[in-house]
Amino acid sequence: MCGIIGYTGKEQAAPKLLLGLKRLEYRGYDSAGIAVFSDGKFSVCKRKGRVSELGGAEKLRGGCGIGHTRWATHGAPSERNAHPHSFGRFVLVHNGIIENYLPLKEECEARGEKFISETDSEVIAHLLEYYDRGDVLSAIKETVARLKGSYALAVMCRDEPNVLYAARRKSPLIVGKGEEGLYLASDVPAIAECRELYSLCDGEFAVLQGDNIRFYGEEGEIKKETMKLVSKSDIPEKGAYPHFMLKEMHEIPAAIANSLINFEDDFCFSGINIVLCQTEYIQIIACGTAYHSGIAAKYAIEALARVPVEVTVASEYRYRDPIVKKGTLALAVSQSGETADTLAAAELAKEKGATVIAITNAPDSSITQIAHFVLFTRAGREIAVAATKSFNAQLALLFSLATALAKTKGRQTPSLRPLPALAEEVLTEAEKMKEIAPILLGAKSVYFIGRGADYCTALEGSLKLKEISYLPSEGYPAGELKHGTLALIDEGTPVIAVLTQEGLAEKTMNAVFEVYARGGRVILVTNLPEYAARKEVYRSILLPKCEELFSPILSVIPLQALAYYTSLARGNDPDKPRNLAKSVTVE
Ligand code: G6P
Repeated sequence: MCGIIGYTGKEQAAPKLLLGLKRLEYRGYDSAGIAVFSDGKFSVCKRKGRVSELGGAEKLRGGCGIGHTRWATHGAPSERNAHPHSFGRFVLVHNGIIENYLPLKEECEARGEKFISETDSEVIAHLLEYYDRGDVLSAIKETVARLKGSYALAVMCRDEPNVLYAARRKSPLIVGKGEEGLYLASDVPAIAECRELYSLCDGEFAVLQGDNIRFYGEEGEIKKETMKLVSKSDIPEKGAYPHFMLKEMHEIPAAIANSLINFEDDFCFSGINIVLCQTEYIQIIACGTAYHSGIAAKYAIEALARVPVEVTVASEYRYRDPIVKKGTLALAVSQSGETADTLAAAELAKEKGATVIAITNAPDSSITQIAHFVLFTRAGREIAVAATKSFNAQLALLFSLATALAKTKGRQTPSLRPLPALAEEVLTEAEKMKEIAPILLGAKSVYFIGRGADYCTALEGSLKLKEISYLPSEGYPAGELKHGTLALIDEGTPVIAVLTQEGLAEKTMNAVFEVYARGGRVILVTNLPEYAARKEVYRSILLPKCEELFSPILSVIPLQALAYYTSLARGNDPDKPRNLAKSVTVE
């Protein structure tokens, strides 16, 4: 959702900005640009497309600069709309959305000011120029007071060539000190070389100059605690893998193993254990893949602990005046911890009296500032836009929570321990999807079906395929197929059926027969070999047996692989699907 970077120091800024932008590209890659101050003026280089399109930018000379990689919201992906934006003495990069930019723009235009881009961000540069009376920080404060929406801002002023100004509200922003200069960025890996890092909070400002970073809040200058430093493994590297997505799939067994929690054994979970004892109702709020992990958790929690669970897409929860009863536990699930809708939904749940537990893969992310408690999935950093290992890690953690909750109700629970080793087995079997993927190539659309816990897998399998292959696809409860979607099945339509719930197998097979009877081609993902051998099944993937409620953690792996190989076969870049971004920090 746009990434921003800034550097001021003793070395050339451009190479540092470009390296940082490459590491931020998971946030958007519609356009990229940098501005460097040299010889009394700003030199700007920006292009439509990826950071690699910024040929020649590394030659811009100067020790202070800012950069941006864009996920377009207002205005098409184009050079004209690419950041940095400038007006008068100011140049800036912005991540977020300025909701009231239209009236502000009209106000500037009424003063005779001309706009170059269609973006919401450009208006900030105009306001800065308007409010500047010689003190840049005051101008920034007055400007942001006029803005509605979200922003992480990096600003440079021509009159102060080596100073960077930063401001944040509802979009992440980190600043840091390195050996050879000061940095700011949307995310830690972009400035991983820093030996001191600070996370700005909403409403805070930072001024980076010389060897010093000064922080300001509403009341004036403030002191801030440093963050934990990044380890080398936090810096994304593909290693021997052709894509991050494939690498991250191979990290699934470790992600599961590291995210399983035994709540009883560890004193640091005593607060959460008390909450679980008091929990009578659970609301899971999340978006995208994280929402699907919530659906799997609902099946597991209700079956194991007999506590009712409601799963709602965060963008719906936040606007529907949800009912929060006494004893409600809200689980806000977000890989990035920065998804704007999930943050707003978590805030609302908290306001209404729920105890909020954030489940995130990102230490220091915004959601950790909102929730009463935080549980970390330990999947390691995920770079590919399409989530894989983080989903399996969310399931591991949510299933751990389900068993802990069940225990507080005095109920027996199955063991989660075999899952990492089983996931390893599934990864090998999932390679068969390389041969199966071509079946999907000529398809107009692809359907995924499953019952019970398999329904969650169907939804996630379909989402993965849509995201990176661009094939139209839907996931359905197998029993719903006959209520409409069957009309879309004709000769050769691929239908991926997930079948891991023994008691429901006959029922799901009915849907398989209905598809077969209409010429559809069924690819069965199952741990029940007797069904794989049926003539109605065109191709199959065999899974090892595991506790049925936990099966999505395994059965999703072949579907992730199917999406990956289909994406490759269609000539796409699976790591950077068009129009999408990994961290959606706008509504
Ligand atoms: C974006 C990503 C998805 C992700 C969703 C929620 O749409 O492309 O992969 O599932 O956001 O992200 P979160 O970080 O909140 O889990």
